Amino acid sequence: MFTSKTTILWRLPQFRHTFSCTSAFAKATWPRLVLGIETSCDDTGAAVIDETGAILGESLHSQKEIHLRTGGIIPTVAQQLHRENIARVVQEALERSGVTPMQLTAVATTVKPGLALSLGIGLEFSSNFVRHHSKPFIPIHHMEAHALTVRMLQPVVFPFLVLLISGGHSLLALARGINDFLLLGQSLDEAPGDTLDKVARRLSLKKHPLCSTLSGGQAIELLAKDGDKKKIPLKTPMGRHFDCNFSFAGLRNQVTLIIENKEKEEGIQQGTLLSCLNDIAAATQHTVASHLARRTHRAILFCKARGLLSSCNPTLVVSGGVASNMYIRKALTIITEETGLHLLCPPAKFCTDNGVMIAWNGVERLKEGKGILSHHEDVRYEPKAPLGVDITEEVKVAAIRVPSVKLRISN
Ligand code: KG4
Ligand code: ZN
Repeated sequence: MFTSKTTILWRLPQFRHTFSCTSAFAKATWPRLVLGIETSCDDTGAAVIDETGAILGESLHSQKEIHLRTGGIIPTVAQQLHRENIARVVQEALERSGVTPMQLTAVATTVKPGLALSLGIGLEFSSNFVRHHSKPFIPIHHMEAHALTVRMLQPVVFPFLVLLISGGHSLLALARGINDFLLLGQSLDEAPGDTLDKVARRLSLKKHPLCSTLSGGQAIELLAKDGDKKKIPLKTPMGRHFDCNFSFAGLRNQVTLIIENKEKEEGIQQGTLLSCLNDIAAATQHTVASHLARRTHRAILFCKARGLLSSCNPTLVVSGGVASNMYIRKALTIITEETGLHLLCPPAKFCTDNGVMIAWNGVERLKEGKGILSHHEDVRYEPKAPLGVDITEEVKVAAIRVPSVKLRISN
Protein backbone atom coordinates (compact mmCIF):
# COMPACT_ATOMS: atom_id res chain seq x y z
CA MET A 1 0.00 0.00 0.00
CA PHE A 2 2.93 2.31 0.73
CA THR A 3 5.92 3.16 -1.35
CA SER A 4 9.16 2.62 0.53
CA LYS A 5 10.89 5.86 1.45
CA THR A 6 14.22 4.09 1.44
CA THR A 7 14.09 4.30 -2.35
CA ILE A 8 14.73 8.03 -2.22
CA LEU A 9 17.96 7.79 -0.28
CA TRP A 10 19.78 8.44 -3.58
CA ARG A 11 19.51 12.13 -2.79
CA LEU A 12 21.87 11.77 0.12
CA PRO A 13 25.29 12.30 -1.54
CA GLN A 14 24.04 15.38 -3.36
CA PHE A 15 22.55 16.66 -0.16
CA ARG A 16 25.73 16.09 1.84
CA HIS A 17 27.62 18.16 -0.67
CA THR A 18 25.29 21.12 -0.22
CA PHE A 19 26.19 21.49 3.40
CA SER A 20 29.65 22.53 2.43
CA CYS A 21 27.99 25.66 0.99
CA THR A 22 27.02 28.29 3.46
CA SER A 23 25.21 30.75 1.22
CA ALA A 24 21.68 31.81 2.08
CA PHE A 25 20.58 30.32 -1.23
CA ALA A 26 21.85 26.86 -0.30
CA LYS A 27 20.17 27.05 3.09
CA ALA A 28 16.86 27.97 1.51
CA THR A 29 17.02 25.37 -1.23
CA TRP A 30 17.92 22.19 0.58
CA PRO A 31 15.63 20.14 2.78
CA ARG A 32 15.35 20.84 6.45
CA LEU A 33 16.56 18.02 8.71
CA VAL A 34 15.05 16.83 11.98
CA LEU A 35 16.45 14.48 14.61
CA GLY A 36 13.63 12.63 16.40
CA ILE A 37 14.09 10.99 19.80
CA GLU A 38 11.62 8.55 21.41
CA THR A 39 11.80 7.17 24.98
CA SER A 40 8.20 7.24 26.19
CA CYS A 41 7.97 3.55 27.09
CA ASP A 42 10.37 0.67 26.43
CA ASP A 43 11.96 1.59 23.10
CA THR A 44 14.90 3.94 22.77
CA GLY A 45 14.60 5.29 19.23
CA ALA A 46 16.27 7.98 17.17
CA ALA A 47 16.11 8.97 13.51
CA VAL A 48 17.19 11.72 11.18
CA ILE A 49 14.76 12.52 8.39
CA ASP A 50 14.39 15.30 5.88
CA GLU A 51 11.29 17.37 5.29
CA THR A 52 10.05 15.07 2.52
CA GLY A 53 10.03 12.15 4.95
CA ALA A 54 13.14 10.47 3.55
CA ILE A 55 14.72 8.48 6.37
CA LEU A 56 18.42 9.31 6.32
CA GLY A 57 19.44 7.31 9.37
CA GLU A 58 17.74 5.53 12.25
CA SER A 59 18.48 3.39 15.27
CA LEU A 60 16.28 1.56 17.75
CA HIS A 61 17.03 -0.27 20.98
CA SER A 62 14.11 -2.42 22.14
CA GLN A 63 13.87 -3.45 25.79
CA LYS A 64 11.21 -6.04 24.96
CA GLU A 65 13.27 -9.16 25.75
CA ILE A 66 14.34 -7.86 29.14
CA HIS A 67 10.79 -6.92 30.12
CA LEU A 68 9.53 -10.31 28.88
CA ARG A 69 11.94 -11.95 31.31
CA THR A 70 10.78 -9.84 34.27
CA GLY A 71 7.11 -10.33 33.34
CA GLY A 72 6.31 -6.70 32.47
CA ILE A 73 7.83 -3.25 32.31
CA ILE A 74 9.45 -2.19 35.59
CA PRO A 75 9.78 1.62 35.22
CA THR A 76 13.15 1.85 37.00
CA VAL A 77 14.56 -0.89 34.76
CA ALA A 78 13.19 0.86 31.66
CA GLN A 79 14.75 4.13 32.85
CA GLN A 80 18.15 2.52 33.40
CA LEU A 81 18.08 0.89 29.95
CA HIS A 82 17.16 4.19 28.26
CA ARG A 83 20.02 5.84 30.19
CA GLU A 84 22.48 3.19 29.05
CA ASN A 85 21.45 3.32 25.39
CA ILE A 86 20.27 6.79 24.44
CA ALA A 87 23.62 8.35 23.56
CA ARG A 88 24.62 5.38 21.40
CA VAL A 89 21.23 5.20 19.67
CA VAL A 90 21.29 8.92 18.78
CA GLN A 91 24.88 8.74 17.64
CA GLU A 92 24.10 5.71 15.45
CA ALA A 93 21.15 7.48 13.81
CA LEU A 94 23.31 10.53 13.12
CA GLU A 95 26.24 8.49 11.79
CA ARG A 96 24.00 6.43 9.51
CA SER A 97 22.46 9.64 8.14
CA GLY A 98 25.80 11.30 7.48
CA VAL A 99 24.37 14.43 9.08
CA THR A 100 26.28 16.28 11.80
CA PRO A 101 24.48 17.87 14.77
CA MET A 102 25.30 21.31 13.35
CA GLN A 103 23.46 20.47 10.10
CA LEU A 104 20.21 19.66 11.91
CA THR A 105 17.37 22.14 11.62
CA ALA A 106 15.74 21.03 14.90
CA VAL A 107 15.44 18.23 17.44
CA ALA A 108 12.02 16.70 18.20
CA THR A 109 11.51 14.56 21.31
CA THR A 110 8.56 12.80 22.94
CA VAL A 111 7.70 14.61 26.16
CA LYS A 112 4.14 13.26 26.73
CA PRO A 113 2.36 10.97 27.54
CA GLY A 114 4.32 7.95 28.79
CA LEU A 115 6.26 6.52 31.70
CA ALA A 116 7.64 9.42 33.75
CA LEU A 117 11.05 7.85 34.29
CA SER A 118 11.41 6.96 30.60
CA LEU A 119 10.24 10.35 29.31
CA GLY A 120 12.67 12.02 31.71
CA ILE A 121 15.71 10.36 30.12
CA GLY A 122 14.76 11.42 26.57
CA LEU A 123 14.00 14.95 27.66
CA GLU A 124 17.19 15.34 29.71
CA PHE A 125 19.34 14.04 26.87
CA SER A 126 17.57 16.25 24.30
CA SER A 127 17.75 19.38 26.46
CA ASN A 128 21.50 18.95 26.84
CA PHE A 129 21.87 18.20 23.13
CA VAL A 130 19.95 21.27 21.90
CA ARG A 131 21.74 23.55 24.37
CA HIS A 132 25.12 22.20 23.39
CA HIS A 133 24.44 22.61 19.65
CA SER A 134 22.12 25.67 19.91
CA LYS A 135 19.27 23.98 18.06
CA PRO A 136 15.52 24.63 18.22
CA PHE A 137 13.58 22.06 20.25
CA ILE A 138 10.17 20.61 19.32
CA PRO A 139 8.38 18.80 22.18
CA ILE A 140 6.21 15.97 20.82
CA HIS A 141 2.96 14.35 21.97
CA HIS A 142 3.50 10.60 21.43
CA MET A 143 -0.08 9.96 20.25
CA GLU A 144 0.00 12.91 17.83
CA ALA A 145 3.12 11.32 16.34
CA HIS A 146 1.40 7.91 15.94
CA ALA A 147 -1.55 9.67 14.27
CA LEU A 148 0.56 11.63 11.78
CA THR A 149 3.08 8.92 10.77
CA VAL A 150 0.86 7.87 7.86
CA ARG A 151 1.32 11.31 6.23
CA MET A 152 5.04 10.62 5.94
CA LEU A 153 4.27 7.54 3.86
CA GLN A 154 1.59 8.89 1.54
CA PRO A 155 -0.47 12.04 1.13
CA VAL A 156 -3.40 11.93 3.54
CA VAL A 157 -5.32 15.16 3.94
CA PHE A 158 -7.12 16.39 7.04
CA PRO A 159 -9.64 15.66 8.39
CA PHE A 160 -9.36 11.89 8.97
CA LEU A 161 -10.45 9.53 11.70
CA VAL A 162 -7.71 7.82 13.67
CA LEU A 163 -7.73 4.72 15.88
CA LEU A 164 -4.59 4.45 18.03
CA ILE A 165 -4.12 1.12 19.78
CA SER A 166 -0.97 0.19 21.67
CA GLY A 167 0.30 -1.18 24.97
CA GLY A 168 -0.37 2.11 26.72
CA HIS A 169 -3.26 3.64 24.77
CA SER A 170 -6.55 3.08 23.07
CA LEU A 171 -8.28 6.06 21.52
CA LEU A 172 -10.43 7.26 18.66
CA ALA A 173 -9.93 10.82 17.46
CA LEU A 174 -10.67 13.04 14.53
CA ALA A 175 -7.47 14.61 13.20
CA ARG A 176 -8.35 18.06 11.80
CA GLY A 177 -4.80 19.42 11.64
CA ILE A 178 -1.33 18.58 12.90
CA ASN A 179 -2.19 19.72 16.42
CA ASP A 180 -5.96 19.85 16.14
CA PHE A 181 -7.71 16.70 17.36
CA LEU A 182 -11.19 15.90 18.63
CA LEU A 183 -11.09 13.03 21.11
CA LEU A 184 -14.12 10.77 20.46
CA GLY A 185 -13.33 7.89 22.79
CA GLN A 186 -10.61 6.38 24.94
CA SER A 187 -9.98 3.44 27.23
CA LEU A 188 -11.62 3.66 30.64
CA ASP A 189 -9.14 1.19 32.11
CA GLU A 190 -6.33 -0.58 30.28
CA ALA A 191 -5.13 -0.55 26.68
CA PRO A 192 -5.63 -3.53 24.33
CA GLY A 193 -1.90 -4.25 24.06
CA ASP A 194 -1.63 -4.30 27.83
CA THR A 195 -4.55 -6.76 28.01
CA LEU A 196 -2.98 -9.04 25.39
CA ASP A 197 0.39 -8.85 27.19
CA LYS A 198 -1.25 -9.76 30.53
CA VAL A 199 -3.26 -12.65 29.04
CA ALA A 200 -0.09 -13.93 27.37
CA ARG A 201 1.74 -13.72 30.70
CA ARG A 202 -1.08 -15.52 32.56
CA LEU A 203 -0.87 -18.26 29.92
CA SER A 204 2.95 -18.37 30.42
CA LEU A 205 3.44 -18.03 26.68
CA LYS A 206 7.12 -17.21 27.07
CA LYS A 207 7.53 -20.93 27.85
CA HIS A 208 5.96 -21.79 24.49
CA PRO A 209 8.70 -22.71 21.99
CA LEU A 210 7.23 -20.46 19.27
CA CYS A 211 6.56 -17.45 21.51
CA SER A 212 9.57 -16.99 23.80
CA THR A 213 10.78 -13.83 22.07
CA LEU A 214 7.43 -12.41 21.02
CA SER A 215 5.44 -9.64 22.68
CA GLY A 216 2.15 -10.77 24.22
CA GLY A 217 0.15 -9.39 21.29
CA GLN A 218 2.37 -11.10 18.71
CA ALA A 219 2.20 -14.41 20.62
CA ILE A 220 -1.61 -14.28 20.82
CA GLU A 221 -1.84 -13.51 17.09
CA LEU A 222 0.45 -16.42 16.21
CA LEU A 223 -1.32 -18.99 18.44
CA ALA A 224 -4.78 -17.79 17.39
CA LYS A 225 -4.07 -18.95 13.84
CA ASP A 226 -4.53 -22.58 14.97
CA GLY A 227 -7.33 -21.92 17.43
CA ASP A 228 -11.11 -22.11 17.39
CA LYS A 229 -12.62 -18.96 18.88
CA LYS A 230 -16.06 -20.57 19.18
CA LYS A 231 -14.81 -23.03 21.81
CA ILE A 232 -14.25 -20.25 24.38
CA PRO A 233 -17.29 -18.08 25.13
CA LEU A 234 -16.33 -14.45 25.70
CA LYS A 235 -18.59 -11.42 25.86
CA THR A 236 -17.68 -8.29 23.87
CA PRO A 237 -17.25 -5.42 26.39
CA MET A 238 -19.57 -2.43 26.78
CA GLY A 239 -22.40 -3.72 24.61
CA ARG A 240 -24.87 -1.43 26.42
CA HIS A 241 -22.76 1.70 26.33
CA PHE A 242 -23.53 3.63 23.15
CA ASP A 243 -20.33 5.69 23.15
CA CYS A 244 -16.85 5.27 21.67
CA ASN A 245 -14.95 4.52 24.87
CA PHE A 246 -13.14 1.23 25.37
CA SER A 247 -12.75 -1.15 28.28
CA PHE A 248 -10.51 -4.18 28.34
CA ALA A 249 -10.07 -4.98 32.05
CA GLY A 250 -13.39 -6.90 32.22
CA LEU A 251 -12.38 -8.97 29.21
CA ARG A 252 -9.10 -9.83 30.91
CA ASN A 253 -11.03 -10.97 34.01
CA GLN A 254 -13.27 -13.17 31.85
CA VAL A 255 -10.22 -14.77 30.24
CA THR A 256 -8.47 -15.24 33.59
CA LEU A 257 -11.51 -17.07 35.01
CA ILE A 258 -11.63 -19.32 31.96
CA ILE A 259 -7.91 -20.08 32.30
CA GLU A 260 -8.37 -20.96 36.00
CA ASN A 261 -11.24 -23.32 35.17
CA LYS A 262 -9.32 -24.96 32.34
CA GLU A 263 -6.32 -25.48 34.65
CA LYS A 264 -8.61 -27.23 37.14
CA GLU A 265 -10.15 -29.35 34.37
CA GLU A 266 -6.74 -30.35 33.03
CA GLY A 267 -5.34 -30.83 36.55
CA ILE A 268 -2.38 -28.49 35.99
CA GLN A 269 -0.82 -25.60 37.94
CA GLN A 270 -0.49 -21.99 36.81
CA GLY A 271 2.73 -21.79 34.79
CA THR A 272 2.11 -24.97 32.81
CA LEU A 273 0.94 -24.61 29.19
CA LEU A 274 -2.75 -25.46 28.69
CA SER A 275 -3.79 -27.75 25.85
CA CYS A 276 -6.45 -25.24 24.71
CA LEU A 277 -4.00 -22.29 24.43
CA ASN A 278 -4.80 -21.72 20.78
CA ASP A 279 -8.54 -21.55 21.36
CA ILE A 280 -8.10 -19.06 24.22
CA ALA A 281 -5.79 -16.94 22.04
CA ALA A 282 -8.27 -17.02 19.13
CA ALA A 283 -11.25 -16.07 21.31
CA THR A 284 -9.34 -13.27 23.09
CA GLN A 285 -8.07 -11.81 19.82
CA HIS A 286 -11.54 -12.02 18.25
CA THR A 287 -13.18 -10.27 21.22
CA VAL A 288 -10.57 -7.48 21.22
CA ALA A 289 -11.11 -7.08 17.46
CA SER A 290 -14.92 -7.02 17.83
CA HIS A 291 -14.77 -4.39 20.58
CA LEU A 292 -12.41 -2.18 18.56
CA ALA A 293 -14.51 -2.65 15.41
CA ARG A 294 -17.79 -1.77 17.10
CA ARG A 295 -16.51 1.41 18.78
CA THR A 296 -14.82 2.46 15.53
CA HIS A 297 -18.04 1.82 13.61
CA ARG A 298 -19.88 4.16 16.01
CA ALA A 299 -17.16 6.83 15.65
CA ILE A 300 -17.53 6.67 11.86
CA LEU A 301 -21.32 7.04 12.08
CA PHE A 302 -20.95 9.92 14.55
CA CYS A 303 -18.49 11.76 12.29
CA LYS A 304 -20.68 11.16 9.24
CA ALA A 305 -23.78 12.44 11.03
CA ARG A 306 -21.90 15.63 11.98
CA GLY A 307 -20.26 16.06 8.58
CA LEU A 308 -16.82 15.84 10.20
CA LEU A 309 -15.11 13.61 7.62
CA SER A 310 -13.77 14.57 4.22
CA SER A 311 -16.60 14.11 1.72
CA CYS A 312 -14.37 13.09 -1.19
CA ASN A 313 -12.10 10.60 0.56
CA PRO A 314 -13.25 9.73 4.10
CA THR A 315 -10.38 7.90 5.75
CA LEU A 316 -9.66 5.82 8.85
CA VAL A 317 -6.02 5.61 9.92
CA VAL A 318 -5.07 2.85 12.36
CA SER A 319 -1.73 2.89 14.16
CA GLY A 320 0.08 1.88 17.38
CA GLY A 321 1.65 -1.51 18.16
CA VAL A 322 -1.66 -3.44 18.20
CA ALA A 323 -2.44 -2.13 14.70
CA SER A 324 0.17 -4.54 13.35
CA ASN A 325 -2.28 -7.39 14.16
CA MET A 326 -3.65 -8.70 10.85
CA TYR A 327 -6.83 -10.13 12.34
CA ILE A 328 -7.69 -6.74 13.86
CA ARG A 329 -6.90 -5.04 10.54
CA LYS A 330 -9.29 -7.44 8.78
CA ALA A 331 -12.06 -6.65 11.29
CA LEU A 332 -11.55 -2.93 10.67
CA THR A 333 -11.51 -3.51 6.91
CA ILE A 334 -14.99 -5.05 7.18
CA ILE A 335 -16.20 -1.94 9.03
CA THR A 336 -14.64 0.53 6.60
CA GLU A 337 -16.04 -1.39 3.62
CA GLU A 338 -19.48 -1.33 5.25
CA THR A 339 -19.29 2.44 5.84
CA GLY A 340 -17.45 3.48 2.66
CA LEU A 341 -14.24 4.66 4.31
CA HIS A 342 -10.71 4.21 3.08
CA LEU A 343 -8.56 2.27 5.61
CA LEU A 344 -4.88 3.08 6.00
CA CYS A 345 -2.51 1.19 8.30
CA PRO A 346 1.20 1.99 8.22
CA PRO A 347 3.48 -1.07 7.92
CA ALA A 348 4.16 -2.76 11.30
CA LYS A 349 7.59 -1.11 11.57
CA PHE A 350 5.93 2.31 11.68
CA CYS A 351 3.05 1.23 13.93
CA THR A 352 5.30 0.42 16.89
CA ASP A 353 7.34 3.07 18.70
CA ASN A 354 10.34 4.47 16.84
CA GLY A 355 12.35 7.63 16.35
CA VAL A 356 11.13 8.16 12.78
CA MET A 357 7.56 8.99 13.79
CA ILE A 358 8.83 11.57 16.27
CA ALA A 359 11.12 13.15 13.67
CA TRP A 360 8.21 13.28 11.19
CA ASN A 361 6.00 15.01 13.76
CA GLY A 362 8.86 17.49 14.15
CA VAL A 363 8.88 18.07 10.38
CA GLU A 364 5.11 18.62 10.34
CA ARG A 365 5.40 21.17 13.14
CA LEU A 366 8.41 22.83 11.55
CA LYS A 367 6.53 23.28 8.27
CA GLU A 368 3.63 24.96 10.04
CA GLY A 369 5.81 26.81 12.55
CA LYS A 370 3.94 25.30 15.51
CA GLY A 371 5.45 24.50 18.90
CA ILE A 372 9.08 25.25 18.06
CA LEU A 373 11.05 26.34 21.10
CA SER A 374 14.46 27.89 21.48
CA HIS A 375 17.14 25.78 23.18
CA HIS A 376 16.92 28.07 26.23
CA GLU A 377 13.33 27.22 27.09
CA ASP A 378 12.54 24.83 29.92
CA VAL A 379 10.26 21.95 29.05
CA ARG A 380 8.61 19.50 31.43
CA TYR A 381 7.52 15.98 30.59
CA GLU A 382 3.88 15.01 31.23
CA PRO A 383 3.14 11.33 31.96
CA LYS A 384 -0.57 11.94 31.36
CA ALA A 385 -1.64 14.16 28.48
CA PRO A 386 -4.99 13.94 26.66
CA LEU A 387 -4.97 14.26 22.88
CA GLY A 388 -6.97 17.24 21.63
CA VAL A 389 -10.40 18.50 22.66
CA ASP A 390 -12.37 15.89 24.58
CA ILE A 391 -15.85 15.42 23.06
CA THR A 392 -16.42 11.92 24.45
CA GLU A 393 -19.48 13.16 26.40
CA GLU A 394 -21.02 14.57 23.23
CA VAL A 395 -20.50 11.21 21.53
CA LYS A 396 -22.13 9.47 24.50
CA VAL A 397 -25.14 11.79 24.41
CA ALA A 398 -25.58 11.13 20.68
CA ALA A 399 -25.97 7.42 21.66
CA ILE A 400 -25.67 6.19 18.08
CA ARG A 401 -26.93 2.62 17.57
CA VAL A 402 -24.55 0.59 15.43
CA PRO A 403 -26.04 -2.00 13.06
CA SER A 404 -24.82 -5.51 13.65
CA VAL A 405 -22.00 -6.47 11.27
CA LYS A 406 -20.74 -10.07 11.15
CA LEU A 407 -16.97 -10.27 11.43
CA ARG A 408 -16.30 -13.33 9.32
CA ILE A 409 -12.52 -13.54 9.44
CA SER A 410 -10.43 -16.63 8.89
CA ASN A 411 -7.51 -16.92 11.31
O1 KG4 B 1 3.02 1.20 20.16
P1 KG4 B 1 3.85 0.21 20.92
O2 KG4 B 1 5.13 -0.27 20.29
O3 KG4 B 1 4.24 0.74 22.33
C1 KG4 B 1 3.35 1.41 23.14
O4 KG4 B 1 2.66 0.70 23.91
O5 KG4 B 1 3.28 2.67 23.01
O6 KG4 B 1 2.90 -1.06 21.22
C2 KG4 B 1 3.32 -2.19 21.95
C3 KG4 B 1 2.11 -3.09 22.17
C4 KG4 B 1 2.37 -4.29 23.07
O7 KG4 B 1 1.36 -4.37 24.03
C5 KG4 B 1 2.31 -5.49 22.12
O8 KG4 B 1 1.83 -6.67 22.73
C6 KG4 B 1 1.35 -4.99 21.08
O9 KG4 B 1 1.66 -3.61 20.91
N1 KG4 B 1 1.53 -5.69 19.80
C7 KG4 B 1 0.58 -6.45 19.23
C8 KG4 B 1 1.16 -7.00 18.06
N2 KG4 B 1 2.45 -6.54 17.98
C9 KG4 B 1 2.65 -5.73 19.04
N3 KG4 B 1 -0.68 -6.70 19.58
C10 KG4 B 1 -1.41 -7.51 18.80
N4 KG4 B 1 -0.91 -8.10 17.69
C11 KG4 B 1 0.35 -7.87 17.27
N5 KG4 B 1 0.83 -8.45 16.17
ZN1 ZN C 1 3.32 4.09 21.03
